[in-house]
Amino acid sequence: MQIPTSSTNTATIDHDFIPEIELGLLAENASISPKFLYDPLGSHLFTAITLLPEYYPTNTEKNIFSQYKDQISQAVGIGGTLIDLGAGNCQKAESFFESLKPSNYLAIDFSVEYLQDALNKLAGKYPHILMQCIGMDFSKQLIIPDSIAPTKRTFFYPGSSLGNFLPSEALHLLSQIKNQANDGGLLIGVDLMKEDAVLMTAYDDPLKVTAAFNLNILRSTNSHLNSNFKVEQFRHVAKVNHAENRVELYLEALENVIVSWPGKSREFKKGELIHTENSHKYTIESIKQLLMSAGFETTQIWTDPKNYFAVIYAK
Ligand code: TRP
Repeated sequence: MQIPTSSTNTATIDHDFIPEIELGLLAENASISPKFLYDPLGSHLFTAITLLPEYYPTNTEKNIFSQYKDQISQAVGIGGTLIDLGAGNCQKAESFFESLKPSNYLAIDFSVEYLQDALNKLAGKYPHILMQCIGMDFSKQLIIPDSIAPTKRTFFYPGSSLGNFLPSEALHLLSQIKNQANDGGLLIGVDLMKEDAVLMTAYDDPLKVTAAFNLNILRSTNSHLNSNFKVEQFRHVAKVNHAENRVELYLEALENVIVSWPGKSREFKKGELIHTENSHKYTIESIKQLLMSAGFETTQIWTDPKNYFAVIYAK
């Protein structure tokens, strides 16, 4: 539900999000949900991140897709419904249309307006593929509507987005995918654990695009909550947590700060952190194990020469 504020304030307050944001901000270890990273500016900043040479996941996955297109397509097989989880601009899925020849394409994303635009353009180019989109936050529950033919389904989940879930949440999502794939399977891209230096520049690049992307969550929060975060009072921090096999992203207060919003406030002491995102990294063994625990029986794996990233077809 979007309720416009007064005419002098162009922000839109989404009351549905207020309790969730407050809960995170008022917790002893404060956090803001990563979904608030992707407001219109944040989405553009993330696209800019994917163009940075330091952010290896996007390019490495793209190279694996193009180098092994034939083998991957042969493993997945042709026809059925291609279900794109977190479709965005639908470009990655489009690169498989010719070889996978899906009869149906179902694009799912949190932000449906953006998706609808992308899909309208795509539908004109591929008139023989029946296209549909749904706006869904599948982080809690993934339900493919009955209107989608119960034939073979190929779930497509690239970009290592799985890594943004905790292992227990990732297992839950993968199990739901397996249960709804019918005769099909899952084509997924996952990021692999590697040396700290490579991870650190990928998540804290010298041009500071990633810092801008992370800091922008404070402005995005201000517009949802009517809070008064000042971006210049915080800095972007990336840490590698070896015990949990993940990169952790935070914003650190550069001075003592009091942030307030209607009815409430929170003090951040200098050096205090706000957690914004986890990005779990897998090994070939750990991702195989997770897929098997979710009920998948077989996996085929393609990787790059440096073993930075893996593309997997699980069935
Ligand atoms: N899904 C991306 C990833 O985990 C998101 C991301 C990249 C990100 N850089 C970031 C999130 C910096 C927060 C801050 O790789």
